[in-house]
Amino acid sequence: MPTLFDTYTFKDITLRNRIVVGPMCQYTAQEGVPNDWHNVHYPTLARGGAALVVVEATAVSPEGRITPGCLGLWNDEQAAAFAPITAAISKAGAVPGIQLAHAGRKASAHVPWEGDDHIPESDPAGWQPIAPSPVAFGANLPRVPTEMTLDDIARVKADFVRAAERARDAGFKWLMLHFAHGYLAQSFWSTHSNKRTDQYGGSAENRGRFLLETLEAVRAVWPENLPLSARFGVIEFDGQDEQTLAESITLVQKMKGVGLDFLDVSIGFSTPTANIPWGAGFMAPYAQRVKQEAALPVTTSWYISEGRQADALIRTGALDLATLGRPFLANPHWPYEAARALHVKDAGKVLPPSYGWWLARYQ
Ligand SMILES: Cc1cc2nc3c(=O)[nH]c(=O)nc-3n(C[C@H](O)[C@H](O)[C@H](O)COP(=O)(O)O)c2cc1C
Repeated sequence: MPTLFDTYTFKDITLRNRIVVGPMCQYTAQEGVPNDWHNVHYPTLARGGAALVVVEATAVSPEGRITPGCLGLWNDEQAAAFAPITAAISKAGAVPGIQLAHAGRKASAHVPWEGDDHIPESDPAGWQPIAPSPVAFGANLPRVPTEMTLDDIARVKADFVRAAERARDAGFKWLMLHFAHGYLAQSFWSTHSNKRTDQYGGSAENRGRFLLETLEAVRAVWPENLPLSARFGVIEFDGQDEQTLAESITLVQKMKGVGLDFLDVSIGFSTPTANIPWGAGFMAPYAQRVKQEAALPVTTSWYISEGRQADALIRTGALDLATLGRPFLANPHWPYEAARALHVKDAGKVLPPSYGWWLARYQ
């Protein structure tokens, strides 16, 4: 029975424990280039003892950013600026991962603390979003996106491939594709946002095509010995949940067939009227179901905040890895606190000796 602090070997990667820092946008980049904020933030998380640090949603093209402050990997300047970050994460004993993303119809928004809403069309700071269909998300994101042509679809897939190559060359060892949260890929999958009548819309097979083709194209350039994962919204909480879940699991099985190694099970966020049952670990049963039915290792996040809770999810086999977001913003040394709560021997060794030696000695 594995525990939270057991290692996890997957392909050529060995994680020092089962704790993952999930991707979290920092909204502090300019022109998509990592800067001093990211240079401190990501290595700090790695030094705190997590096994895998997944860098925030990083756009594959300028129009794929959620906000003007989002990171990007569409040019060489950006790629060069990521290299010291991956080196520092690795030096701290964690595996550097990155989430590649295209925001689709949710693009061109203000950063959260400046409103989180669409930048007005009259403001040159914004840009025109693209999506499978000209259907706005609604609520605070009312801008109607431009329907993507087949050429647009081919270009965005190529952008994902090029960004994956740059991520590989910048030293990332774990790649996560953002197929969740109502962004571009999820909006191809969801009937809330995809009203197309061509081969990319309509049936579940057609709505899944963009995701499968993107995955397959990225797999061709992402090294076979390194994990390729996706974060996918398998449920919307919109009243159609059993059908969505069943179709999503079928799609995950197909993703596995074209090279997906690992799934981060998440929420669709395709409609502002969803009724989401927020609560401690509420996504874990869905993750466990996907794991069983698709026979794929999984993680999930969402209100996993206590060491004992995370450990129980690993011990019971519900999850292969436990992903945390906000708890790491509150405390980058969360793994140390978890180790103490679980009475792990030499809990101080979770941290680098400059911190951990003293804590072990004087507690
Ligand atoms: C500040 C912030 C930024 C986030 N950015 C992303 C992101 O870039 N990509 C993503 O898939 N999820 C993102 N999320 C969601 C987190 O990865 C995570 O799934 C969510 O916060 C739930 O986990 P938690 O309850 O441990 O915070 C973000 C969450 C926060 C709080």
